[in-house]
Amino acid sequence: MKRRIVLLGPPGAGKGTQAKRIVGFTGVVHLSTGDILRDEVARGTDLGREAKQFMEKGELVPDRLIIDMIRGRIEAASDGFLLDGFPRTVPQAEALDEITLLDIVFDIELSRAEVLRRLTARRVCQQCGAIYNLNFDPPEDPTRCGTCGGTLVQRSDDCADVIENRYDVYQQSTAPLISYYDVHGLLLSLDGELGSDAVFERIQSALSE
Ligand code: AP5
Repeated sequence: MKRRIVLLGPPGAGKGTQAKRIVGFTGVVHLSTGDILRDEVARGTDLGREAKQFMEKGELVPDRLIIDMIRGRIEAASDGFLLDGFPRTVPQAEALDEITLLDIVFDIELSRAEVLRRLTARRVCQQCGAIYNLNFDPPEDPTRCGTCGGTLVQRSDDCADVIENRYDVYQQSTAPLISYYDVHGLLLSLDGELGSDAVFERIQSALSE
């Protein structure tokens, strides 16, 4: 079973959704740079205060901060990891190459129009982190998590103008990683327009090969 895994894809492609399923299937550690940063922001740490000004505009947090933040967590994940949202630039990918080898990189592809449609309808549980979509996966009560009863909220960077900028930043800074990993023979592209189950079936079979 492949256990050193990277998830690439534009905002809203379904990285977080698939990450939860992959972790359930493999037992590897889920390392989401977005989740780690949001936690730093919520706790008001120095890193959180610095990161916040980039995140609220949909810009990338500087490479040096991200690499320092994630390096130790990857090194500690001796039984495997799933990187969700890292790397996001070529310098981050080069730093990752110095930290560890990888087994596979999934690239979940999604169009700008679909990204916008999905993210404006996304709701996240403040308590357990469950991800919902008012269009595709609506909770019974649009304000309460069906799993833990926590409050469902809209992420502050899920407004239309910030989503548009995040997509542009992705195209400019992160999309070059697709050929970076293709050249290394690690890349598997997935059609993010498919339903969550169909995407996960392809991931499962690639991980088991
Ligand atoms: P981050 O939290 O990583 O955000 P993102 O990459 O923009 O991705 P999202 O979390 O928005 O989307 P997702 O792909 O996980 O989609 P989801 O599964 O929720 O980063 C946030 C910010 O932090 C960045 O903008 C940056 O500032 C900073 N940052 C983070 N990492 C950084 C780094 N390495 N370097 C520098 N800065 C960094 O799904 C979306 C919606 O679609 C949900 O509602 C879901 O229910 C639905 N859905 C999912 N799959 C499907 C499907 N197959 N069919 C229909 N609906 C689906």
